[in-house]
Amino acid sequence: MQQIWTGGDLTFSYCTVQDLPEISRMLAKESVCRWMFFGPNTAEVTRSYFLPLIEGMEAAFREGRTPDCHVFTARIRHSGEFVGQCALLPVDFSPGSYLIGYQLDDPHWRKGYGTLCCRFLVYFAFVVLDGHRLNGDTVADHAASRRVMEKCGFVPEGCQRGYWHARGGDHDRVLYGLLKSDLSTEDLSAIAGAFTAS
Ligand SMILES: CC(C)(COP(=O)(O)OP(=O)(O)OC[C@H]1O[C@@H](n2cnc3c(N)ncnc32)[C@H](O)[C@@H]1OP(=O)(O)O)[C@@H](O)C(=O)NCCC(=O)NCCS
Repeated sequence: MQQIWTGGDLTFSYCTVQDLPEISRMLAKESVCRWMFFGPNTAEVTRSYFLPLIEGMEAAFREGRTPDCHVFTARIRHSGEFVGQCALLPVDFSPGSYLIGYQLDDPHWRKGYGTLCCRFLVYFAFVVLDGHRLNGDTVADHAASRRVMEKCGFVPEGCQRGYWHARGGDHDRVLYGLLKSDLSTEDLSAIAGAFTAS
């Protein structure tokens, strides 16, 4: 299976063990984890979360299968500099439906890369995997993540009050969804044209 895509200034490649030190450094930061229900994490915790995902993807590639989980590392196309990671995780008992996730390292915030990562996940789910639904969620007060999803066409679908307990408080969880059928043929071809397999 194809393993690297480019879009805008970024490349997206399936995550490997070589990416783990940079992912661990990012997820050890209080700034990056501020709006997440987990973290900051030690390198061991990050490794123990990502390693089974990486091994599962690599086993699928060896066997010529499409992986169940799609975890990508985003880098600056021209320099290879680490920007962050984004992922599509399958929803149990619901083929073609995925949960999205993205985390960018703080030097790369507010440059449009969060939106580009989310758009890449839309491309990957609907164009490459021919999926039909994406699920997103975030802490209600996380304006940047909400805006990223809204810019990519996600629709607010509800709020679960006091869902997460983190950093000494309870936090509402807002739910977002995007159906492939929400996108027009023109939207889908614009998304398909924005990314190239390389
Ligand atoms: C959330 C995150 C992905 C946003 O990425 P980003 O690259 O900064 O986002 P973009 O530059 O694409 O900006 C997207 C929109 O959010 C807005 N935005 C970005 N940061 C913001 C902030 N701190 N407060 C309010 N709005 C913000 C931007 O202005 C832009 O909206 P606009 O085009 O209407 O002006 C990034 O901050 C991040 O990875 N944070 C740490 C991990 C995390 O929280 N992940 C999400 C968990 S749900």
